[in-house]
This record gives sequence, C-alpha cells and structure tokens, in this order.
Amino acid sequence: MDFIRVHGGTTLQGKVKVQGSKNAALPILAATLLVQGPVLLKNCPKISDVDGMILLLQTLGCSARWERDALCVCTDHYDKARLPDETVGAMRSSVFLLGAILARKGEAILGWPGGCVIGKRPIDLHIKVLTKMGVRFRETDEGICAIAENGLHGISVELDFPSVGVTENLVMAATAADGLTRIKGAAKEPEVTALCEFLKKCGAFISGIGTDILEIRGGSKLHGGEFRIPSDRIVAGTYLFAGLAAGGSILLEEAPTEHMQEVLRVIRQMGGSVTETAGGLYAQFTGHPQNPLFLKTDVYPGFPTDLQSMAVAAGCVGEGDFVVQETIFENRFRIIKALESMGGRICRIDDGSVRIIGRGGLRGAEVEALELRGGAALIVAALGAKGETVISGRRYIERGYENICRDLRELGARIVSG
Ligand code: UD1
Repeated sequence: MDFIRVHGGTTLQGKVKVQGSKNAALPILAATLLVQGPVLLKNCPKISDVDGMILLLQTLGCSARWERDALCVCTDHYDKARLPDETVGAMRSSVFLLGAILARKGEAILGWPGGCVIGKRPIDLHIKVLTKMGVRFRETDEGICAIAENGLHGISVELDFPSVGVTENLVMAATAADGLTRIKGAAKEPEVTALCEFLKKCGAFISGIGTDILEIRGGSKLHGGEFRIPSDRIVAGTYLFAGLAAGGSILLEEAPTEHMQEVLRVIRQMGGSVTETAGGLYAQFTGHPQNPLFLKTDVYPGFPTDLQSMAVAAGCVGEGDFVVQETIFENRFRIIKALESMGGRICRIDDGSVRIIGRGGLRGAEVEALELRGGAALIVAALGAKGETVISGRRYIERGYENICRDLRELGARIVSG
C-alpha cells in the first residue's frame, strides 16, 4: 500500500505546527562526523530521508537514537571510510558525507549518489573544489574513491554557481583543512546558514554566515552539544499553496517567515492574505487563486525550486495565464502529465518553462507521484479538485514530510494514506 486518497473541495481551517527542515537536518547530520562527543538535534524531522541518513551513520559505526523529537547522535566510534552502495544510491544527500568523511578520515569511498530524479544532478562542482583542497578522485565500478594523502588544505575559491550542496560540502571539509578557506559566491540559503551556525556552536571558526563570502579557519577541535533544527520553509510553503487551492484560513505555527518573503509575495499575488503574528503565520484564502503572469525559480532569496511544482498545481486551480520558468533543475516538470489527467491545461514553452492556462478547476483522477516535491504538489492539486484523487508513490512524499496527511487532516482536509 503506497497511496494517498484525497477528497477535494473542502476548505482548510485550523492550525498546524511546521516540522523541522529536511534540507537543514541532512547536512547537519553529515556534519556530526566532524565533532567529538554527543550531539542532540532538537526539532529533527522524522522523515524517511533522515532515517536513511541515520542508517548510513550507523553503518559507519556511529550511534543514533530518538529522544522524542530530538535525535541524539554520537560519532565517536566511527570507523569506516566506505559507504554501502544501497544506502548511498537511495539518497543524494550522501554526497555531503564526502566532505565530512574526508575531513575525518582523509579518504572516502562513495557509491554513486542518488536521490530525487529531478534533472541531471551532477557532482562535478563538488569534485572540482575538493580537488583544489588536495583530494585525488578516482572513478571505479564501486563508485567514487577520494583520498587526501597529504591532508586537506585551505583554499580561496570562487564558485561558478552558488550551489547549496557544494557550499555545504566545502564548509565541512574546510573545518578540518589547514589554514583559511575563503568561498566567494557561496550559497546563502537558510539551510547553509543553519549548517554554519551548527558548526560554529561546536567550536568552528566561520565568518560571513548568511552572506555570499564565507571564511572558515580550519583545524580547531569540534565538540558536541545541542542544536535546534530550524522549521521547514518548504513544508510551510506547501501548506500555503494547499490553502490557495482549497480556500479557508490556516495558522502555521513556527513557520520561518523571515526566510519566506518571496514565497509570501507570490501567495499574496495569487490572492492569499498573509499576516505574520506572534503565534505563527496566519493566512486566508478565497479558494479561487488569481494567477500571476510570471514566476521564476531562483537561488535564495528568490522563489525556491522546491516549491515550483506547488505553484504550478495551484495555478491549474487558478484563473488566468501563468508562465513558470525553472532555472535550477531542468527536469522539475515531470508532474505535468498527472496535472493534465486532472484537467489541467499546460503547454511546454521550452525545456525550462511552461504556460498554464488557468480556467479555474481540476477534477479528481488516479495519478502517480514520481518524486518528493512533485508528489506533494499533487496533493495541493487534489485539495483544489472536484471529487476524489488517488496518488500512488506515497513513499516519495514521506522522504520530506513527516506526516502530510495528519497535518492536512488537522486543517480539515479529507485525506487518508493507505
Ligand atoms: C538544490 C537547491 C536547494 C534545494 C535542494 C533540494 C538551489 C540553488 N539549490 O540543492 O535549494 O533545497 O536542491 O531539492 O536552489 N550542479 C552542477 N554540478 C554540481 C552540483 C550542482 O552542475 O556538482 C547544478 C545542478 O545540476 C543544478 C544546480 O547546480 O542545476 C543547483 O544545484 P545545487 O544547489 O548544488 O543543488 P542541491 O544542493 O541539490
């Protein structure tokens, strides 16, 4: 059983707490390899990608156990440089382990990284910057073998593109490198900031946090401690688009509004009324979204690629022509077929853009989630559709949402998993 059944047409009403961030938790879990002593990660999301990372750490000889919503990790008995292919293949975030394992062991063997099937997702930039730090790479049948025979060296580097993953990998490797590492053109996503804040709390010297120039002084001994994983801006955004599609009024407790300004701008443009209150983010919707003319994904603080599919889904429920351009991952439009089977009218302009002809309505259908965010977007579409939608491929959605059915039921939606 791997499906979600949604009965559309019910308005949302009520409040829900936003879970901890997947994209912050995964690199921070990788970074626990850099510290001595136990780490307590509060507000860590209970999602299958975190389970996968826990399994990877356990395979490496580390311990990890839940204490309610906190995850206690200790990597003191870490002993292997080789990661098993089956776990690496299933999760792209394992590429972060490359920087962390190299920092700890000086060598790493990694199966080919997997993850969501959105776009080519190459790792050439990771390899380029780590090579500059003194790592030699060899591609073998087993995967990627990396070795830093003479240790890691601090470097001054300007990134070709402000890649989130490359910035995070580089920051982790730099904490163990000798000397200073200066990253120009670094990614400024809140999840990069969270990783840097975590490492700083563990004793790392990092300056420029939150800007596009990061400086890391390597070589200090890092210690464990407590850290709170920030709330998930993508989950909060998903629920706002769900509100746009279904209508109603919702309160999102602990929504990270300071990191959602561009998303909130788009939600308002589409007719949502959003107020930042002490209790969280309060939003009201008519259930009839007005499509903006144009939306483009971009690096932070631009509109996140992870919410693009939700905007397309809400656009199919809305009124008016709407062009959406994807600039980060070329393959994020795999959801289109499913939306078309629900009555959505979408034409492809080119590989990077689609035009939605919004005529106000979708109908329920049997559809298939092919990846995490596209799957969540099908739930958004289903909430705004007439009749019943059955979405198979629930396991993809569970990679990033703790319990999306429970959360939406708390908001009054008719949704069950099976
Ligand atoms: C990306 C998103 C991040 C999101 C995450 C999960 C951006 C900038 N990044 O992070 O917000 O949370 O997906 O969905 O929005 N690239 C290369 N070579 C590399 C690495 C990346 O060409 O070695 C390219 C990718 O193909 C892509 C772009 O750079 O076109 C963005 O990559 P990057 O930020 O590294 O991706 P993620 O870290 O996965």
